[in-house]
Amino acid sequence: MMHMDSVESADGRLGAVLSAPRSGAVPLGRHGPWLAASPALARSVLTDPGSYDFPGDVSRSGDLSGSTGDTRSGHLTFAALTPAQVSTGTTVFDDEWRAALADHVRSAPAEAYDAMVLLRRPVARSTVAAVLPGLSVARRDDLADRSLAWIDSLAPVIAAARPPRRWSRVRRSERDARFALEDALAATNDLAATPAEVATMLAAGIQVPIAAGAWLLAFLAVHPTSVADPVHAVWETLRLTPPTWVTARVTTREVALGAESLPAGAVVLVSPLLLGRCPDLVPGDPDGLADFDPQRWRDPTKRPGAWLPFGAGPHACPGRNLGLAQLTRLAAWVNAHQITLSEHVSIDQSRGIAPQPCRFTVAGRREAP
Ligand code: HEM
Repeated sequence: MMHMDSVESADGRLGAVLSAPRSGAVPLGRHGPWLAASPALARSVLTDPGSYDFPGDVSRSGDLSGSTGDTRSGHLTFAALTPAQVSTGTTVFDDEWRAALADHVRSAPAEAYDAMVLLRRPVARSTVAAVLPGLSVARRDDLADRSLAWIDSLAPVIAAARPPRRWSRVRRSERDARFALEDALAATNDLAATPAEVATMLAAGIQVPIAAGAWLLAFLAVHPTSVADPVHAVWETLRLTPPTWVTARVTTREVALGAESLPAGAVVLVSPLLLGRCPDLVPGDPDGLADFDPQRWRDPTKRPGAWLPFGAGPHACPGRNLGLAQLTRLAAWVNAHQITLSEHVSIDQSRGIAPQPCRFTVAGRREAP
């Protein structure tokens, strides 16, 4: 049977954060960055934007080494999606997921599904429909394609070992793709925010759920016997492999973080992935915290999400309920089918974490339990 690489044995920054002590403020290098390793410290960082601001260059926030200590200008926050928006997005996700599966069967019946490809349209169209429910379907689908194009063009910018220069080819194509999306947004009438803000919302609300959905499919393919409550399967996936596995803030002044005194301009990290392995926050055997076990969430004494897979404070995820709904629909679909990995899954750390490749086959419908 095919397997997936375990986060616990990952190298790179992921490995460094996972092997850090699990309490207090942990310096990861001589001059930082510092890791807020306990749940309480992590929460204190994310809920105090006056002391811990967003890094300035959002498009490169995946690369902490490139941080210059600037903070994001202004304190823009995003309103959470309304229940009506979530419901619109969920319906579109269902329809588009079915359409994507059917398209694949039509165009490449002999090939395995590639989760990171298959999820693109359903997630993009669902998120656009939720964020901009007033637009025609044609308009929305066009915006979904443009959002995906911008996300794709950002990938080499984020993955580059050093920040690409302003006029480099990758920067220019990223800018072109971003302007193409913003121009299309500017041409729509009922925008609640600036085109740049809506573009950011769309990109954040598409790239992350695609990765989360692919992780969910990978886990459920590897653990076929654990037909679980879809909601439990979703939380367990977001615990073991939260796509935004680490986020950064920059101190605006000298601050005390735990026992450490940090200067202004210090980079502080919060890792939902590390917190998700904290025995205080997760039900079940402390020795089994690295195992995928959706059933653990039948224990009602621990609240799922306490490890902050959607962040916390004023910059917490405004699309949380839509993300959860998309993933829950996907888990329910898996429960009705038998899926198997067709290739070993590795961990791509170039932008958050994503399973790459994540190919699977569908054997057929499962008997109703
Ligand atoms: C499973 C799906 C999702 C996960 C795991 C997720 C996770 C997160 C996390 C951890 C943050 C906080 C980052 C930080 O504090 O640095 C965040 C922020 C954000 N998310 Fe999500 N997200 C998901 C889905 C969505 C969706 C569907 C949307 C939009 C429709 C969205 C839009 C945003 C935006 C705009 C922000 C930035 C908020 C700000 O900077 O104030 N996300 N998300």
